[in-house]
Amino acid sequence: MKAIEIRNKYLNFFKQHNHKVIPSAPLIPENDPSVLFTTAGMQPLVPYLLGQKHPEGTRLTDFQKCLRTNDIDEVGDNRHLTYFEMLGNWSLGDYFKEESISMSYEFLTKELGIPSEKISVTCFAGDEDCPRDTLTAECWKKAGIPEERIYYYGKDDNWWIAGEEGPCGPDTEMFYDTGKPPCSPDCQPSCNCGKYVEIWNNVFMEYLKKDGKYTKLSQKNVDTGLGLERMTMLLEGKETPFDTEIFKPIMDKLQGLAKKDDIASRRIVAEHLRASIMIVSDGGRPSNIDRGYILRRLIRRMTRHLNKLEIDLNELGNIIDLNIETLKELYPELSQKKSEIKEVIINEKDKFMKTLMRGEREFSKVITRIKNEGKDTIKGEDIFKLYETYGFPPEVTRDLAEENGLKVNMDEVDKLFKEHQDKSRLGSEQKFKGGLAGTGEMEIKYHTATHLLNAALKEVINKDVHQKGSNITAERMRFDFSCDHKLTDDEKKEAEDLVNKWISEDLQVTVETMKKEDAIKSGAECMFIEKYPDEVTVYSIGTISKELCGGPHVKHTGELGHFKIIKEEASSSGVRRIKAILE
Ligand code: SER
Repeated sequence: MKAIEIRNKYLNFFKQHNHKVIPSAPLIPENDPSVLFTTAGMQPLVPYLLGQKHPEGTRLTDFQKCLRTNDIDEVGDNRHLTYFEMLGNWSLGDYFKEESISMSYEFLTKELGIPSEKISVTCFAGDEDCPRDTLTAECWKKAGIPEERIYYYGKDDNWWIAGEEGPCGPDTEMFYDTGKPPCSPDCQPSCNCGKYVEIWNNVFMEYLKKDGKYTKLSQKNVDTGLGLERMTMLLEGKETPFDTEIFKPIMDKLQGLAKKDDIASRRIVAEHLRASIMIVSDGGRPSNIDRGYILRRLIRRMTRHLNKLEIDLNELGNIIDLNIETLKELYPELSQKKSEIKEVIINEKDKFMKTLMRGEREFSKVITRIKNEGKDTIKGEDIFKLYETYGFPPEVTRDLAEENGLKVNMDEVDKLFKEHQDKSRLGSEQKFKGGLAGTGEMEIKYHTATHLLNAALKEVINKDVHQKGSNITAERMRFDFSCDHKLTDDEKKEAEDLVNKWISEDLQVTVETMKKEDAIKSGAECMFIEKYPDEVTVYSIGTISKELCGGPHVKHTGELGHFKIIKEEASSSGVRRIKAILE
């Protein structure tokens, strides 16, 4: 079964079970500075899992583009991926264990045709925070899974939380038995030998973890996630995701072009290229910090392996074309952005090749020195220097070192990087204190304009208009807000005029620090209350706006210039989007 068929079957199945299909959120979270990329389907839904009403109701389903980078260095083996698609369904205080399990079972066995005997499941064994989940096991038995294929594990296996804190709970995982012989008499779903493959995870999210303590949420939620690539692999009867229709055309093309074949390198190229395409398509650009640096690493590592395969780098454009073609059924939007995607990736490849050429001499010197010294390990300092002076990513140095039969002390490298980061973080804080924020001047202006627009829309439309997201570059601002209708020309003009009036009044922008609850009591506006620490900063603009915000902002609105709305459009259901500029 092809990936697109699995996705369509999934969404249709849950639609038939009264779920609303919601669109995938972008891979780059719009409102959540706490994470670099969307890592799970539940992530954009956190406010709703915590109790906020979702405009589409209490039963939702979607496919979500996800990126997880913790295993980036494992890519090249037969299973690890950075980018993947997660199919999910949610109950926001609606159904719970019984219905969730019965739907999952029905979907796997009836819709996907997986024989019941191939399915094993796991449940939470219980501990001091949460009792043993016998109800889940009962539900599985009722659905048709016999006791001997129901396993109980502790928090390490059967508890799900995104990161350290937030909504969480016991989960139940479904495993597919590949039919391989057990690795030992004790072989179980928790074993990594490859006999059992995890296919679906249903989290019964009824707890909130905060400051290390668990409390009950106001509602019982279900959050499920099914990995599309893995399911495609199983249903196509393949050993690895790279043998499925999602990767096969690229893997074959690379093999055809390679003068020196190496399967791990081909997998790295295919995987990193797909991830890079998806990130660029959602607006990501290579840089030296945060998500931009992840993208840079992906493209650079991919380029390194194209080199290793001895593939002519001028072929990259054709390889991207084929990749977009291969993904077109799943992500039709890629075709429209093809030239942009190619430009960004090829530019970064070119930059990296220059870096490589510049740094190679230095690298050879380091290698010669170490070999002359009769040592076998490159010091962290050398790697750090290659990074600082020549832009050599440490992973690249490590790969090159290994190819030269040398080892690298990555712990030492990590330590040096951490020290460096702490120093530069301190540096930008110092700068900020001096009134020169790390952010550019235009971004700061747009940031203040965002608060003005938020206040203006509340006056022009109504008090229930709230910010749903924002995105700022040096060229423009984008502002998403809750509103049930397309703005009329009059409304747009009124909002624009009001912002310009406040700019001409040269209102003072002030900041104070207060307790979160006091800030809320004082009527300060905020987007996701639970995302803020207990101590918050509140920015006020004259008497017209007061918002929880980390800043930075201009000191007086007069600095902003002239504000102009250039576009107003739908963003998602019940959410409108304004693009505006300062001229
Ligand atoms: N949030 C859970 C996961 O990522 C289920 O979707 O596995």
